[in-house]
Amino acid sequence: VLWLGGLRVIDESLSLGAFVAFNAYLIRMSRPLMMLGRMVDEFQRSIASLARIEAVIDHPPEDRGSGADRCITGEIELRDVSFTFPGDDTPVLDRISLRIPAGDTLAIVGRVGSGKSTLARLLPRLLEPTTGEVLVDGTPVQQMPLATLRSAIGYVPQDSFLFSETIRENLSIGLDGVSDSPSSRPEPVEWAAGISQLAGDLEDFPAGYETMVGERGVTLSGGQKQRAALARAVIREPRILVLDDALASVDTHTEERILKSLREIMKARTTIVIAHRLSTVRDADRIILLNDGHITESGTHDELVAKGGRYADMYRRQNLTQELGDL
Ligand SMILES: Nc1ncnc2c1ncn2[C@@H]1O[C@H](COP(=O)(O)OP(=O)(O)OP(=O)(O)O)[C@@H](O)[C@H]1O
Ligand SMILES: [Mg+2]
Repeated sequence: VLWLGGLRVIDESLSLGAFVAFNAYLIRMSRPLMMLGRMVDEFQRSIASLARIEAVIDHPPEDRGSGADRCITGEIELRDVSFTFPGDDTPVLDRISLRIPAGDTLAIVGRVGSGKSTLARLLPRLLEPTTGEVLVDGTPVQQMPLATLRSAIGYVPQDSFLFSETIRENLSIGLDGVSDSPSSRPEPVEWAAGISQLAGDLEDFPAGYETMVGERGVTLSGGQKQRAALARAVIREPRILVLDDALASVDTHTEERILKSLREIMKARTTIVIAHRLSTVRDADRIILLNDGHITESGTHDELVAKGGRYADMYRRQNLTQELGDL
């Protein structure tokens, strides 16, 4: 523009004044043009979001199951359960059968991708088995009202999610829709944060429980996030607690304290704990080792160590690593 205009001014087909004015207009115009570009961009992004919101709204309501509402004691049974992801041909879980008496703790260990999370997700019916049956208290979960089933299960997924809200609100989400919440507890949020050892961390935040987290607030550490997710699950004292690698980012000492307080409140409740760290699982009533969708070893910690199989191997290796770490 400058070059062409400059030439025109020199050969006098354009006056200097007109050229300066033209330039000024051009600069004025560039901002609205940029704004227009941004608006088009945002518009398109909104359309994409709208499509996603519509997908959620149009999602068919889940089959709620039938049968009367009742209290769940927490016995869990898997009968010949197989699970294959749609489009895959190898099953992730291959005819798994197991029974967890009410009140017991079952630990699941196994390599990455061995199907541990898949198994855990069958319980709250986030996934449905391809064949076989999952029973809670002897009733197939499909025949239970979904709300009854889910309110009986506290599930801490491997990658949990915090909302951009205060910590108090994030933890109270667990209480939503629970009418028979243990009302005897005057401060359930503080209580749950104490169990999950989050309370100590919150003391260091100036706003404490009212601290905003997520995009609009502080970013919690991985371990703090996991403990918040745990607190959200234990806050309504579920009959069944499922921890999918929920303490992986928590240091071993804090983990020990959490497990100790969990043992107290989970005494008469059923717990399923998935972990890579064997210190997390050693006190379980039963430990199963998953390998390629099969249960290859099963027993207590001492039994499995004595057996000298893969669990014993894992245990020896992790012990060694820890000893090296302690040096
Ligand atoms: N949505 C999916 N579609 C297809 N395959 C999947 C899907 N989710 C998981 N898988 C596959 O299923 C297998 C088991 O996954 P799963 O998450 O149960 O393993 P995991 O034992 O929990 O592993 P990790 O210890 O890493 O958590 C893996 O091979 C995984 O790639
Ligand atoms: Mg997993």
